[in-house]
Amino acid sequence: MERYRQIISDWDKFSYYCSQPLPKTLRVNTLKVSLDMMEKYFKKLGWSFKRFDFCLWGYEVQTGDEISRTLEHWLGYYYIQEATSFISVLALQPQPGEKILDLCAAPGGKTTFIAQIVNNKASIWANDIGFRRIRALMANIYRMGAVSVIVTGYNGLSFPQKFKFDKVLLDAPCSGEGNMRKDPRRVKGAELGFINNISGLQKGLIQRAIDVLNPGGILVYSTCTLAPEENEMVIDYVLRKRKVKVEDIDLNIPYSQGITEWNGEKFHPDLAKTMRIYPHHLNSGGGYIAKLKKIG
Ligand SMILES: C[S@@+](CC[C@H](N)C(=O)[O-])C[C@H]1O[C@@H](n2cnc3c(N)ncnc32)[C@H](O)[C@@H]1O
Repeated sequence: MERYRQIISDWDKFSYYCSQPLPKTLRVNTLKVSLDMMEKYFKKLGWSFKRFDFCLWGYEVQTGDEISRTLEHWLGYYYIQEATSFISVLALQPQPGEKILDLCAAPGGKTTFIAQIVNNKASIWANDIGFRRIRALMANIYRMGAVSVIVTGYNGLSFPQKFKFDKVLLDAPCSGEGNMRKDPRRVKGAELGFINNISGLQKGLIQRAIDVLNPGGILVYSTCTLAPEENEMVIDYVLRKRKVKVEDIDLNIPYSQGITEWNGEKFHPDLAKTMRIYPHHLNSGGGYIAKLKKIG
């Protein structure tokens, strides 16, 4: 992670949080249970809880229990989810009646969140290339009661262009550096060769994501990594390749602006509208979110 010292202004805080265990956090699934009811279940389980301040459905819980091993989890009353991974879906602002594609969807944390926000009143397509991961995706969709979701198994690079969407979420495969609190081996950062390789896949996926959007449609691009090659440089590339503009992300959360320069290379100034989320911002993992609008 040392190579990010130059872009992370609050480096000491960043390093400290990277070494701390992740809090236990979850999203209450209001497709299945009300918040009041779930708070009663938390009390019954003997868990103390605190609601996120930026999202009604997000909770941090304190308990020695393994939170995936409860009847309530099995029944789909909640989905175990990190605070950072709420942000891309909130930035997408899904609305009832829309046609929405989640291009890299498995195992479904964000797909099922979209279904929850629109109360199952949108046409949601959840796509993934990984056969095993699709099984987990389908199990989660079923468990969470996300009945408005269709599952497809295309390679995102060649997702059929005859289908068009109002919104696309591209939660891209990435080097996963932001998961350092779950997996301490990641603290040293990913290999540059791997980063450069996967950034090629991300550039291909984002172009196809834009090609399947209706004019005026919205794309949210997210990763759980800190590498500029997988974040700002992917957006800077696609701003030159497709007719899109960067939108502001209207969320009241702490974050750092996307960078507009890296290793002497300058990017489009609008990259400052994109969001870098570091572990200390939400006491969660690290990640990156950009919101784009297709022009014409
Ligand atoms: C970061 S994970 C997605 C996590 C998911 N959005 C969630 O919130 O649960 C990235 C996913 O991209 C999928 N993927 C990788 N290459 C792909 C491709 N070419 N087309 C479609 N999906 C792909 C992987 O199988 C993986 O499930």
